[in-house]
Amino acid sequence: MKEKLLQIKEEALKEFSSCDDLKSLNDLRVKYFGKQGALTVVLKGMRDLTPQERPIIGALVNDVRQNIESSFAKKEEEIATKELAKKLESEKIDITEPSKDCEKGSFHPITRVIDRLSDICVEMGFEVVQGPEIESDYYNFEALNIPQNHPARDMQDSFYITEKFLMRTQTSAVQVREMEKRKPPFKIVSPGRTYRNDSDSTHSPMFHQFEGLVIDENVSMADLKIMLNTMLTKLFGKGTKTRFRPSFFPFTEPSVEVDVTCPNCGGEGCRLCKGTGWLEMLGAGVVNPKVLEMSGIDSKKYKGFAFGPGVDRLAMIENGVTDLKLMFKNDIRFLNQMK
Ligand code: PHE
Repeated sequence: MKEKLLQIKEEALKEFSSCDDLKSLNDLRVKYFGKQGALTVVLKGMRDLTPQERPIIGALVNDVRQNIESSFAKKEEEIATKELAKKLESEKIDITEPSKDCEKGSFHPITRVIDRLSDICVEMGFEVVQGPEIESDYYNFEALNIPQNHPARDMQDSFYITEKFLMRTQTSAVQVREMEKRKPPFKIVSPGRTYRNDSDSTHSPMFHQFEGLVIDENVSMADLKIMLNTMLTKLFGKGTKTRFRPSFFPFTEPSVEVDVTCPNCGGEGCRLCKGTGWLEMLGAGVVNPKVLEMSGIDSKKYKGFAFGPGVDRLAMIENGVTDLKLMFKNDIRFLNQMK
């Protein structure tokens, strides 16, 4: 038995030392320590020993086992280190190698205008909110004092989805949603996409508006004027003049259209402003008390004003673009020029 053990030990140590991958190392482990393993078989044979022989052989078995186990562990570590080194070598990255050209993107000109308008308004205490692009007839028209069959519906050629739902034609729908939700006083702006069946070089079926609404006690046309003058001066720079012309919107009374001195020629007259020196920027007005009441706001206590510049027009002016459709084609050559 003693010889058998020593022979196993010698054989095992030899085999372990010549082994050089984890898989065959594992096979060896099974060969010696497994259920049918060489050492296990010897241990089973200890039953037949005499009580005197048992402790001597027992000690020897322990010694052999420890020997094999520690050589096994050493070998295992050695192989793991070697395999890791091999892996690191094969996956090495040369960080000094020149990289592929990585093109830098930029914000879309429309996004830039929206961001600038939002920043200007946030500075003045407005909160930026969003509304759905698929809107009900009620929010888009009815609650804005544009009832069924009202001729004002003809001002906007709409895309209906069902009888009750349409692609919103104006961000003014968000005014109603916010009035229903909030308790005055509040100030919100809401940029977003709007849709009308309209298409030429300055109109696209999908376009952008930037709605603003202020509800408070004692607000008036004068507040609207100061606010818009501040906003437009911040947008176009000092020296910008504005011009308020009477207009009509069913949800504001009185209503105005606001022009600014043409930022291209400074008011001298050029192709952009068709020689007039002015550019039409936005519609605005004092919120019609009927509209306040429909959304649950006490029109005796509160007044409001609203404004709604078209965003695309601003982006076109700023970038000297004459065809609006270019903005939405995603042609990389065009976008590269807009950086
Ligand atoms: N929603 C109007 C339009 O699309 C613009 C507007 C907004 C007018 C807010 C008055 C107040 O033409």
